[in-house]
Amino acid sequence: MSKVATLEIDGKRYEFPVVEGTENELGINIKSLRGESGAITLDPGFKNTGSCESGITFLDGEKGILRYRGYAIEDLAEKADFLEVAYLLIFGDLPSKEQLEKFYDDIKEQSTVDEEMKKILDGFPKAAHPMGVLSSLTSALVAFNPSCVDVSSEQDMYNAIVKILGKFPVLAAWTLRKKHSLPLNYGDDSLGYVENLHKMMFEKPGKKYEVNQSVIDALDKLLILHADHEQNCSTSTVRMVGSSHAGLFASISAGISALWGPLHGGANQAVIEMLEKIKEDGGDTKKFMAKAKDKDDPFRLMGFGHRVYKNFDPRAKIIKKSADEVLGQLGVEDPVLDIAKGLEKEALEDQYFVDRKLYPNVDFYSGIIYRALGIPVEMFTVMFALGRLPGWIAQWREMRLNKEPIGRPRQIYTGHTHREFQAVDKR
Ligand code: CMC
Repeated sequence: MSKVATLEIDGKRYEFPVVEGTENELGINIKSLRGESGAITLDPGFKNTGSCESGITFLDGEKGILRYRGYAIEDLAEKADFLEVAYLLIFGDLPSKEQLEKFYDDIKEQSTVDEEMKKILDGFPKAAHPMGVLSSLTSALVAFNPSCVDVSSEQDMYNAIVKILGKFPVLAAWTLRKKHSLPLNYGDDSLGYVENLHKMMFEKPGKKYEVNQSVIDALDKLLILHADHEQNCSTSTVRMVGSSHAGLFASISAGISALWGPLHGGANQAVIEMLEKIKEDGGDTKKFMAKAKDKDDPFRLMGFGHRVYKNFDPRAKIIKKSADEVLGQLGVEDPVLDIAKGLEKEALEDQYFVDRKLYPNVDFYSGIIYRALGIPVEMFTVMFALGRLPGWIAQWREMRLNKEPIGRPRQIYTGHTHREFQAVDKR
């Protein structure tokens, strides 16, 4: 028997169907609530509000489970590569060899950007944050690819998808190259997606591009771990903007802006800056733990806590192990890794963090690996965006295929009631 939820307002009862997901999550379908009762629900931060039904990513925050299209993140991080995971997220199943080859060939066909884009990049000051530049360039792509906006068929969507997957790494690499006064370049079709990205970012004029395979493997794994995370702030932004039919590139550009903030993707940069600050201050982790718990102090332990995970973030577990491996393989010694481990140990034993179920999240150790791989701190969140791109695309595509209505939340108005207008000389 299907479940029903009953709500009583001022003695009047209303019944709503309860939707059950494949992992037994329950959602009360309140579509008819306002029409029947005149009331709406109020849920700042959408802590209890489902915005859609989705078949892409499952996560259980209490048990620390994360799966893409049914596959455990641990298996994908260990056995798949980033492009396979991108295909899986976007199209629903792991690709055959032929499907994967065609997908990559189509992406490679699209891996240049209009030369005029260089003028736009040129207009930014060198000090500009790469996330702002990347968001602007992604939005500017619309002007050079207007056919990607009005997608009325799956083929149109596919064309827009391979275009953004081809062009985005070029733009990301250029944001770094501009900052470091390096000539703008293109990739090499003979390389895999992630190695090609790495080459575009780091090749130096006049020098043969060479890279340690363990660097590419670590980068690939990090991108997989970031590839999707259901209805988080940036993904909800992508779906919201896309719901107005603004097009994929404009939606992704908005997602990049949402990801930039330190409470979301920007946390990876904030974590390393925090760890450096603790190191420079003499390494007294207890002092910073006390600051994090002090309600009069705005300081928070960056890389800790999560809206959904009330247990270990499974991505953080994989990244912590990977940090040890990568630093070992590359022979890098980073004193902030010890500070991070010390901070984690203290937090996990501290009543404040235990009571609030605050565990290390994906961003706590990722910056340490990025740094070991030679990626500058200000590029950390760009790396997150590169990883999250397939997730944003998959969520946008699902939203369009499901013909979801335009996103438009309601509000409870708390301002003035009607006021009579006074001319300026009478105020
Ligand atoms: N340090 C100290 N206290 C914290 C922290 C923290 N990092 N995170 C949460 N709290 C406290 C918070 O003060 C509150 O305490 P109280 O109940 O006494 O008022 C309680 O824990 C619940 O926190 P909240 O802010 O209501 O929880 P939220 O779900 O709204 O916020 C969060 C989640 C991730 C924004 C928050 O934990 C945070 O700011 N963490 C630091 C930033 C960070 O690492 N962000 C990356 C998130 S994972 C990557 C991604 O997908 O974006």
